[in-house]
Amino acid sequence: MAATEKILVLDFGGQYNQLIARRVRDQHVYCEILPYTTPLSVIRAGGYRGVIFTGGPNSVYLEESPHYSADILDLGIPVLGICYGAQLMAWMLGGKIERAPGREYGRVEMRVSPNSLLFAGLPEASVCWMSHTDYISRPPEGFAVTARTDSCPCAAMEDAARGLYAVQFHPEVTHSEFGQQILHNFLFLACGVKGDWVMDNFIEETVSRLRREIGGQGVVLGLSGGVDSSVAAALLSRAVGRQLTCVFVDQGLMRKDEGDFVEETFTRLFDMNFVRVNCQEAFLSHLKGVTDPEAKRRIIGTEFYRVFWDEIRARYSGGFFAQGTIYPDRIESGKGDAATIKTHHNQVKLPEDIAFSGVIEPLKDLFKDEVRRVGEKLGIPRELVWRQPFPGPGLGVRVIGEVTAERVKILQEADWVLRDEMKKSGCEDRAAQFFAVLPGVRTVGVMGDARTYDELIAIRAVTTDDFMTADWAKLPYEVLGRISNRIINEVEHVNRVVYDITSKPPGTVEWE
Ligand code: XMP
Repeated sequence: MAATEKILVLDFGGQYNQLIARRVRDQHVYCEILPYTTPLSVIRAGGYRGVIFTGGPNSVYLEESPHYSADILDLGIPVLGICYGAQLMAWMLGGKIERAPGREYGRVEMRVSPNSLLFAGLPEASVCWMSHTDYISRPPEGFAVTARTDSCPCAAMEDAARGLYAVQFHPEVTHSEFGQQILHNFLFLACGVKGDWVMDNFIEETVSRLRREIGGQGVVLGLSGGVDSSVAAALLSRAVGRQLTCVFVDQGLMRKDEGDFVEETFTRLFDMNFVRVNCQEAFLSHLKGVTDPEAKRRIIGTEFYRVFWDEIRARYSGGFFAQGTIYPDRIESGKGDAATIKTHHNQVKLPEDIAFSGVIEPLKDLFKDEVRRVGEKLGIPRELVWRQPFPGPGLGVRVIGEVTAERVKILQEADWVLRDEMKKSGCEDRAAQFFAVLPGVRTVGVMGDARTYDELIAIRAVTTDDFMTADWAKLPYEVLGRISNRIINEVEHVNRVVYDITSKPPGTVEWE
């Protein structure tokens, strides 16, 4: 691994585990997340400079709650317990945990002790974010209480001589006013790290590691035009140049001109063999007459991999298979249900008849925002690096009902106008994702003196942090008005535009 300093986030099932890791990395300190089921021997051998126990949904007194051997506190590695992790630390060392009559939740004022290492540089009073019912009613021997709130007698405690720290609140969420400072103090003062996790080092070290690993062999990578595979391609190109072959399957279901843009970008800016497989007609013939959304998804997915692997079989002459897996794709959950490794579209099942030398995943330790930063440093255009999510089946699930060449074209044109108008009006940042949908509804209209009976276009624009829930974007009426006018004037066969004002739940972001 590129970084010499590593922090371990030991996951006890809390909802913020990835956020903690990202906050640590924001301070230029590399960190990994492992489930609480990880053996102590692995942690001991891991070379970690500090450990953070995450929160969790349980009470430490329940037998089925996630626990850990108290030996971890004697490794001589500083430990920070957060929320459940704080209670766990207290419980492991003989402190007392009690259940409060009610839950303390939300922004709470806390007062910290001026002598605390963890709170160095903080004002005496500040706001923290609480979410707990159990609390530490008596800290273990050797610990000093270092923060209090009105309802929490021990909002934080520490035994600095042993390098043990615990906070009942959540420093990782932005509502905790000095959360970043607190994490900084733990990392730099308690663990003594210097902060060597910077993207320039990552690129340099990954490139030399890839060169060593790949040697003189070839590498094939499936390029979708999405952020992850694009950044993986650019990184591999920097490492091994023309030993890399990128296969880009264009099923004709990308947005207007996007296939050409991907080809242009990678052939002009990066040294590699770029293979574009144009198969729009074959895809359309497989989709002929199919209207069921799941059937369409299945056909597009199956056909995609058939074309992709056939292309690789035709070109393959020994070497590695590379893919753009990123860290969240492979984090194991600490929720206790053993071996819940997420399956994800980034992790592809390899066909048995192709004997690759191995699989290369150059981005497997990075979060999405880090992948984007690497992409920018490697010179990938912003448009690609900051690309919105795009479904694997592409416009196939935005053309509702049967997918035909004509209907895809109508949607591409309408979507292009939407993107152009969002850009011109400076509204691109007001939605995390926006796109047009062709619902397949025809309505009556008038154009000039003539009656029309033509297609309807729906506009979808959502705000969201994680795409699990979303709200419809409150775009200005004038912008919506211009989008509507332009689509009707510029896109043939469209005579009406509607705006989707459904949140998720109950709606999904996509229509199919
Ligand atoms: P839904 O429609 O489930 O979408 O609310 C949530 C997010 O996921 C994207 N999406 C997909 N991404 N393959 C993908 O890679 C897919 O099949 C797929 N379907 C939906 C969607 O665009 C939104 O950002």
